[in-house]
Amino acid sequence: MGLSRFFSLASNDLAIDLGTVNTVVSVRGKGIVLNEPSVVAIETIDGVSRTRAIGAEAKLMLGKTPDTIRTIRPMRDGVIADIDIAEQMIKHFIDKAHGGPSRMPRRPAIAICIPASATMVERRAIKQATFSAGAGRVLLIEESMAAAIGAGLPVTEPIGAMVVDIGGGTTEVAVLSLRGLAYSNSVRVGDDRMDEAIASGIRRRHNLMIGEATAERIKVEIGSAIAPSDSSGRSLRVKGRDLLHGVPAEITVNEEEIAGFLADLVGQIVEAVLSALEKTEPELAADIFDRGIVMTGGGSLLARLDQVLSDATGLPVIVAEDALTCVARGAGLALEDPAYRGVMTEF
Ligand SMILES: Nc1ncnc2c1ncn2[C@@H]1O[C@H](COP(=O)(O)OP(=O)(O)OP(=O)(O)O)[C@@H](O)[C@H]1O
Ligand SMILES: [Mg+2]
Repeated sequence: MGLSRFFSLASNDLAIDLGTVNTVVSVRGKGIVLNEPSVVAIETIDGVSRTRAIGAEAKLMLGKTPDTIRTIRPMRDGVIADIDIAEQMIKHFIDKAHGGPSRMPRRPAIAICIPASATMVERRAIKQATFSAGAGRVLLIEESMAAAIGAGLPVTEPIGAMVVDIGGGTTEVAVLSLRGLAYSNSVRVGDDRMDEAIASGIRRRHNLMIGEATAERIKVEIGSAIAPSDSSGRSLRVKGRDLLHGVPAEITVNEEEIAGFLADLVGQIVEAVLSALEKTEPELAADIFDRGIVMTGGGSLLARLDQVLSDATGLPVIVAEDALTCVARGAGLALEDPAYRGVMTEF
């Protein structure tokens, strides 16, 4: 294949970060054009199912649907869990990113991000779903590589860089150098597990059942990797269903107890980073010592996680700018800029 053709891609080409929680799309020459929850709502009436909503609109229905509507998250642990629904969702987002199906002059080339831990079977499923959704060509890029490019790290140079991407499904730890992954490890610990830990902690301690969306809101508003050292902790009123009386109820939770519910998961993320550092070649480790660790993904926004990771490793830890869109921006750059030639694979 001529490399010049490879990079002379027209402007409807796009890069997709198909995340467990959010799908972010970047269009060549335009940047991020779409950022929506990876959620699909399906309605079944008299045995006939149809898609009721996709993305932001579907997320609003999470946990609030009548029996006839199911909300589905087709991605789990960073890979496709429900192929048909995933394909519909990808197609919908591609059309929306292009401003409607009719405006597509030709089938676009699509760069799609995959976690390093995805198996060959899972890679093939993502590739197939993307072709079926309308792609003319599919290029796969490792999520960590895209995150590093999006964060502006020197991935094409012989300089070691460490990226920790914490998403809904997984935490990916990678060391990159010279357009490749020198080390990568993925642990199935991410934001979804944090939300679950908050919900189960509140159920145990307060006998209150809360929904997924409420647990997420608690994490974003007062969640932290470690409780504040002074008594400045914030608190929050939360509503749910009282387990003893079966009625709606409201309680107050504080930052300290939420940090306690998250401690085990934060510990697992720290462990994954420490084990990556242990396995890194000395020359690359020296670079990481100088440059520190870059975090991306929604999970990196958890309060004081950077501080906890920095204390555990003795290294500077930086949260990338626009951590939630970093992977899609990086994949978009990889698609546009010939300097990144070789970081993607075409099937
Ligand atoms: N300020 C914040 N503090 C803590 N968590 C946050 C914050 N903002 C967003 N998040 C969390 O980030 C998560 C989504 O992160 P992200 O979009 O990076 O995941 P993803 O890419 O879809 O998942 P994956 O990469 O595992 O497939 C959500 O669970 C959300 O609650
Ligand atoms: Mg992600």
